Amino acid sequence: MRPQKIVVLGGTGFVGRHLVPRLQRDGHAIRVLTRNRDLHRGLGVLPRVALVNADVHDRSTLARELAGADAAINLVGILNERGNDGAGFRKAHVELTRTLLDACAGSGVRRLLQMSALRAGEGTSHYLQTRAQAEALVRSSPLAWTIFRPSVIFGDGDGLFFRFAALLRVVPILPLARAHARFQPVYVGDVAEAFARALAHPHTQGRCYELGGPRVIELAEIVRWTARMIGKRRVVLPLPDALGRVQALVGEWLPGKPISRDNFRSLQFDSVARDDGLAALGIVATPMEAIMPRLLGGDSHQRALDRFRRG
Ligand SMILES: NC(=O)c1ccc[n+]([C@@H]2O[C@H](COP(=O)([O-])OP(=O)(O)OC[C@H]3O[C@@H](n4cnc5c(N)ncnc54)[C@H](OP(=O)(O)O)[C@@H]3O)[C@@H](O)[C@H]2O)c1
Repeated sequence: MRPQKIVVLGGTGFVGRHLVPRLQRDGHAIRVLTRNRDLHRGLGVLPRVALVNADVHDRSTLARELAGADAAINLVGILNERGNDGAGFRKAHVELTRTLLDACAGSGVRRLLQMSALRAGEGTSHYLQTRAQAEALVRSSPLAWTIFRPSVIFGDGDGLFFRFAALLRVVPILPLARAHARFQPVYVGDVAEAFARALAHPHTQGRCYELGGPRVIELAEIVRWTARMIGKRRVVLPLPDALGRVQALVGEWLPGKPISRDNFRSLQFDSVARDDGLAALGIVATPMEAIMPRLLGGDSHQRALDRFRRG
């Protein structure tokens, strides 16, 4: 495969921090656009990776950054907005995608990989609705696009296991809204591999890949499993929906918005893939049991080995 010039939006986040090095290993030259490069200097030290301050919402800035590129990758996404009326979701998902498509057209970029999410368009959550609206813009564009719809993504620094682990270290009992929602956690390394293969294989153009791991698991079980991995005995208390709604409402006022009513609405749907996108791309899905115990520090045997190796 010929090395390509790739511009990544949202590449400083959890997925980007795994995807950028993966693409860099293929020989690609990558420009990661960020709102604040000082916060992410680590990424920019890789050869052929440039971290660039840019207002990704500005069309002319984007067009300038995209000039001469072979492909754009859009990883920008939010789980929570500042207000509650959907404006934040529309700006981050829909308007940004529209601006990016415009800028691609203006600068001659033909290829786009767009990150979305499983169940986009279902229900009434702003999150899932705006994901689908962004997808619709991409699908109707003249670009050679590929869309990815992952379930929840796990790996080093993820927002699921690591977040619950931090919580479980301090609370003995965890009341949980939508505890029976089902997920199919997919490894961030497999997601990065899917993007890398899409860039390498033209038959992925015009296709949408649902990405899930080898196991379907309820949210409550994810939390219990995480507690075991960090060596804590914890009680997970599934909340009935009426109380779950109250928890979501209260969560909106807590620092970092741990849960919101919009999250609650999107959790109404199981985040489980209908098609095996990883298999379609020739990728064998990595189980969470193969990765997370060591990262969460619960695999004492592995930790002992690591200590031994470090001397
Ligand atoms: N993690 C998961 O489990 C999961 C599951 C399904 C789908 N996804 C989707 O996959 C993508 C990447 O996920 P992630 O976990 O890597 O997310 P993340 O860690 O939150 O990173 C997203 C990046 O997007 C940029 N960004 C955020 N809000 C923005 C805004 N309003 N305007 C412009 N840029 C903004 C940020 O870059 P700067 O601050 O550097 O500008 C940030 O580093 C997202 O679209 C996410 O919704 C993730």
